[in-house]
Amino acid sequence: MVQKILFVCLGNICRSPAAEGVFRAIAPEVDTDSAGTGGWHVGEPPYGPMQTAAQARGVDLSDLRARQFSAEDFTRFDLIIGMDDANIAEIERLRPRGNQTPVRLFTDYAPQSGASAVPDPYYTRDFEGTLTLIEECAKGLRGVP
Ligand code: 4NP
Repeated sequence: MVQKILFVCLGNICRSPAAEGVFRAIAPEVDTDSAGTGGWHVGEPPYGPMQTAAQARGVDLSDLRARQFSAEDFTRFDLIIGMDDANIAEIERLRPRGNQTPVRLFTDYAPQSGASAVPDPYYTRDFEGTLTLIEECAKGLRGVP
């Protein structure tokens, strides 16, 4: 069983903190964290509208703070999960030579959704649709031994 999972998006204020919050609620035995490939929001709590939408589903994100993804994360986690292809490309760009930590798309765990990325609600404003997809992906990931 994977013990330490890192969720990664661009800003670390919408998708990846929501993914972390949803996943830790259904798999509290797994160590989780989240990070952004960009550093604009370091130290900030999750985006207000995302916190509100998550809270309405019983998911509290208020303790989370943004940080930037770094190469050291490859040795700190058993599994790194990106929200879209741009996240994956940026994560892979920082992979240390010889490191073999698996990096996956979150939507790989919800093939039935037909989605190939978690849309960014910071731009789409569809916080509900993103949360619903995140919940599907999180359940799929929870089922992975
Ligand atoms: P996230 O959304 O990657 O889901 O956290 C974003 C939030 C803010 C920015 C980009 C993406 N931004 O550029 O400020």
